[in-house]
Amino acid sequence: MTTLITGANRGIGAALFDAFTASGEKTIGTSRQDDAHLPLDVTKRSSLVALAAALNKAPIDTLICNAGVHNDKNFTLESNYTADIWADTFAANTTGVFFTIETLLPLIRKAKAGKIAIISSQMGSNTLATGGSYAYRASKAAALNLGRNLANDLASEGIAVGIYHPGWVITDMGGQNAAITVEQSAAGLFQRINALSMATTGCFETWDGQQHPL
Ligand SMILES: NC(=O)c1ccc[n+]([C@@H]2O[C@H](COP(=O)([O-])OP(=O)(O)OC[C@H]3O[C@@H](n4cnc5c(N)ncnc54)[C@H](OP(=O)(O)O)[C@@H]3O)[C@@H](O)[C@H]2O)c1
Repeated sequence: MTTLITGANRGIGAALFDAFTASGEKTIGTSRQDDAHLPLDVTKRSSLVALAAALNKAPIDTLICNAGVHNDKNFTLESNYTADIWADTFAANTTGVFFTIETLLPLIRKAKAGKIAIISSQMGSNTLATGGSYAYRASKAAALNLGRNLANDLASEGIAVGIYHPGWVITDMGGQNAAITVEQSAAGLFQRINALSMATTGCFETWDGQQHPL
């Protein structure tokens, strides 16, 4: 069984990498920073094509789209929203997720029961829309929408797609006052992603197993 995790060099991605590695599964991490993982910038098609080539047609059982940015943290309507903030946020959090899945789908199809996990956020919920961080929220809502539509389109092939809120996690993105550690988040996500099946495809779940409002 092979699991591939994007953005595995720090934060939740690094903890997921450790959790899957500890389970004895073959675990491949990607990073745009270091040599410990395969190189990948999810916003660049050429980078994805190079990753696919490096994987050399080997099947991927579980793809975890974790890489993401929060460029408008604490932004309000009064903040200086530029077009670049919107474009860069969507490039990583939405288009990057789509490109990653699209590029690696042939390898997921080669697995016996391939799965795709998208790390979205509670901030992508249309129900819990508490305002602020407009670009991040919209990009994560789009990633949730993308995952649910992919779940529909890939059902006939037996490929399950789950969308997850990892908790409010102590990372560079979540900040030091966040509620849980990366180890807690990754341990919960590990269980959730392992439990993902065709019976639960399209789910939007929290790290600790609650169904999240859409
Ligand atoms: N922390 C939270 O409380 C929280 C809550 C809800 C959802 N999330 C989601 O959980 C995921 C991980 O968050 P985190 O807290 O671990 O964030 P983090 O500590 O800021 O780490 C983000 C990771 O994504 C990578 N990344 C960003 N843009 C990329 C790109 N264009 N191509 C490839 N990799 C890229 C980063 O790589 P570099 O090191 O190269 O920048 C880094 O490895 C994100 O999708 C985030 O939105 C986090």
